[in-house]
Amino acid sequence: MSFEIDLAGRTALVTGAGQHIGRAIACALARAGAKVVVNDIVAERANSVVKEIEEAGGQGLAALFDVTDPQGVHSSIDSLAPDILVNNVGNTGAGNPPGQATFDTSHFVKSDPASWDALFGVNLFGVMHCTRAALPAMIERSWGRVITIISDAARVPERGMAAYAAAKAGAAGFSRALASEVGRSGVTVNCVSLGTIQSEHVQPGRNDERYRKILKPYLVPRLGQPSDPASLVVFLASGYADWITGQTYPVNGGYSPSL
Ligand SMILES: NC(=O)c1ccc[n+]([C@@H]2O[C@H](COP(=O)([O-])OP(=O)(O)OC[C@H]3O[C@@H](n4cnc5c(N)ncnc54)[C@H](O)[C@@H]3O)[C@@H](O)[C@H]2O)c1
Repeated sequence: MSFEIDLAGRTALVTGAGQHIGRAIACALARAGAKVVVNDIVAERANSVVKEIEEAGGQGLAALFDVTDPQGVHSSIDSLAPDILVNNVGNTGAGNPPGQATFDTSHFVKSDPASWDALFGVNLFGVMHCTRAALPAMIERSWGRVITIISDAARVPERGMAAYAAAKAGAAGFSRALASEVGRSGVTVNCVSLGTIQSEHVQPGRNDERYRKILKPYLVPRLGQPSDPASLVVFLASGYADWITGQTYPVNGGYSPSL
């Protein structure tokens, strides 16, 4: 006997899915049977994930828009009418497209207020724009899932992260309030909060000193893999999670506990 999640017949949109965590989420949703719309602003990234999904026998489609551009968001999402929206996009810096500013990790007192806009634009307003565009069709069909990827930086004090933490905590507050408005329409709204996920920039064997320092507070002594949050997202997107809404779930190797 096996436990199966079947998302056949559902369309899922994953933002910023051209690489890393979004890519893993998109591929996992496709393996569960959903048709997956892969959003990114970098065409090669989105197209390569669509190719990967199709080569594995799934259904994928690229949607190239910037989540901070309300017009672009609406013109794509209005016609796609996804059943499942995964607000994955974030702009911490490591995977930013060429030309996009990297994350300013100076202490808040030294930060340039102009640098806050990009963090709020993607991590909070991008989430709100995409959700605003996707909700009407979900409410119309009395079923929908909004899942937003936030960061433990929003839950645990971390130096150099104040503006990013504020934007991510804003996305969590937005999700809780929204859950109260749409629960009776069959739409659930949840967040998944991540600890550090291994990438080409943070991994054992490279920057070993930095790696050991990062790992210290983790109860499970390894970094996360993109597949760790992907599994939870697939579960939250499924019918098994019908009675779960307004919550934030940490996927963080025990980095921060939660009651
Ligand atoms: N990587 C980590 O350790 C970590 C930890 C905690 C939380 N998170 C969160 O997880 C999510 C995914 O992180 P990641 O590390 O995979 O990110 P990443 O930087 O590797 O990938 C983000 C993708 O989004 C795309 N993108 C950037 N701006 C966009 C925009 N305006 N519109 C559309 N696409 C855009 C980029 O081209 C890129 O392909 C983010 O929300 C991030 O804040 C990541």
